Amino acid sequence: MTASISDKITAIRRQRGNELAILAHHYQGDAVVGHADILGDSLELSRKIAALSAKDIMFCGVFFMAETAAMLAAPGQRIHIPVREAACVMSEMAPAPLLDTVLATLRAAGRDVLPLTYVNSSAAIKAVVGACGGAVCTSANAPKMLKWALDQGRGVLFLPDKMLGQNTCNTLGVPESARHILDVRGGGARLDMDAARQAEVLFWPGQCVIHARFKAAAIAALRAQNPDVRVVVHPECSPQTVAAADAAGSTSFIIKYVAEAPAGADIVIGTEINLVNRLAKQYQGQKSIRPLCLSACSNMAKGTEANLLAALETLDTAEPVTVPEAVRAPATAAVVRMLEVSA
Ligand code: 13P
Ligand code: SF4
Repeated sequence: MTASISDKITAIRRQRGNELAILAHHYQGDAVVGHADILGDSLELSRKIAALSAKDIMFCGVFFMAETAAMLAAPGQRIHIPVREAACVMSEMAPAPLLDTVLATLRAAGRDVLPLTYVNSSAAIKAVVGACGGAVCTSANAPKMLKWALDQGRGVLFLPDKMLGQNTCNTLGVPESARHILDVRGGGARLDMDAARQAEVLFWPGQCVIHARFKAAAIAALRAQNPDVRVVVHPECSPQTVAAADAAGSTSFIIKYVAEAPAGADIVIGTEINLVNRLAKQYQGQKSIRPLCLSACSNMAKGTEANLLAALETLDTAEPVTVPEAVRAPATAAVVRMLEVSA
């Protein structure tokens, strides 16, 4: 009988023992998650890297996650990803040269803001941010990190996710009049300098296309059918959607929200479909769990069980994920700043 993909992965894991660790983000499919030693949200996975003794770490997620892991890896540790082309679409919305230009244009007009970047960004972006004294945040610690950034007294440029930025400002009570979304098209050419000078928080105009599909109107329609329905969404959704929901938070927050809901609860979730389906299966017969609408991250989906096996079979010969030397120190400084501030 020929061994299945799953059996082959299990055999490699057994053979490698503690020398190999497989990490997976909550948006990975069940077939991959079944092989993971550690499953988590972006912050949890970043925090675990330093404590791992494994020589080879396979990061099942999108590229920025593996790149962040490569920054935090100990000397001698090698970070791998099943598919390098699995790129977070939102992280691609903020290219580092454009951030450099925008910051320089703002500075030339007397506005020297502190950049705070969502972890869903390239190492090159994190390096620009780190070099200006800024930091990284995740959806789990965004309020703490934005508060820290505001306390530095320079004003903040939040990037690349304007939705997470707006939702976090709502959590902290930053008034609407103190916020401004930058028009970064054409570098600095279209920036509204008066608005940029007056605002306390500037936003990069990026967003997650997967979470943009969850609409406040859909929540209103659900409530009309069942006033007892509980709606929980990810803070990458629009502020209108977050306001219409009962709760919003990181993927780990959503998992906790579902766990703590009473038996028989009717829960609707606005986040990537793999996580919603997994929770629906886990609580089948106890709680009703369904998606606000079906929205899949095609890049997360690139990491299949077959790709995981292929990557494990070439572990010793494949190029690990690395961060160029010039970028590594400032980018790591921005990530470490987050780990210290949010500890
Ligand atoms: P979390 O940090 O909440 O896991 O989210 C990462 C992400 O990419 C959400 O789209
Ligand atoms: Fe990026 Fe959105 Fe996919 Fe998360 S769900 S990895 S933010 S594209």
